[in-house]
Amino acid sequence: MNGLRRWARLALGMPSFVRTGQIGDGRENACADFVEATAPRGDVDAALAAIDTFATREAMLVNVGVEKGALLDAAVRRADPALAVELGTYCGYSALRIARAAPSARVLSVEFSAANAEVARRIWAHAGVADRVTCVVGTIGDGGRTLDALAGEHDVTAGSVDLLFIDHDKSAYLSDLLAIEERGWLHRGSIVVADNVRIPGAPGYRRHMREQQGTRWDTVEHKTHVEYQSLLPDLVLESEYLVG
Ligand SMILES: C[S@@+](CC[C@H](N)C(=O)[O-])C[C@H]1O[C@@H](n2cnc3c(N)ncnc32)[C@H](O)[C@@H]1O
Repeated sequence: MNGLRRWARLALGMPSFVRTGQIGDGRENACADFVEATAPRGDVDAALAAIDTFATREAMLVNVGVEKGALLDAAVRRADPALAVELGTYCGYSALRIARAAPSARVLSVEFSAANAEVARRIWAHAGVADRVTCVVGTIGDGGRTLDALAGEHDVTAGSVDLLFIDHDKSAYLSDLLAIEERGWLHRGSIVVADNVRIPGAPGYRRHMREQQGTRWDTVEHKTHVEYQSLLPDLVLESEYLVG
């Protein structure tokens, strides 16, 4: 079966709440079971490979995937972060990639589904990165509660966020970025990576970055493909903060 047909079968064959909300139908827990059963403990490469195998052979997962994951890895290496923040944990795959590309970084990942957070924590513990990768259950759009928790309980301070990966609710990309910018957590040279800017699409975020090109942001639009197939086009935006 070619990549697109496999993707369509795995992705479109599932209920819409799974496609859009990524609230589990059991596949996320099954993925954690698979990682624990097949990847040696303490091996990040093996854990990532096991998640990719599960997503390719067993059930579609909305991880950033292999092709876009390589773009994320390169951006992480460019940012060389001491602190990385991610919006949208899901099963913890992209946070694992960030942790692998930045072996001494602290990674904070924000996720509104407590069930997804538990899956990610199991996988991080198995991969041996739980001491520096943390899931904060909440959402940036909750009126400041999660932002306050990041500041008060997880030591996010002015200018401390070196890398931000945005991969959650596409309609919240811009407002959540602005909320983080408003807290003063970015610094000149911070890198922000946004997934799925073409599919499902984040047009307001893309417009904002285009309008601010060369003034507040310097953005590269990476042409790529939707996760785990090679036909549906997608865009990953990599933006450098020019302020501060
Ligand atoms: C595409 S998945 C993230 C994939 C993950 N970054 C990876 O590549 O491994 C999106 C995740 O964001 C979560 N989410 C959706 N809207 C959110 C919001 N407003 N705040 C926090 N998390 C949200 C979903 O529950 C889901 O787990």
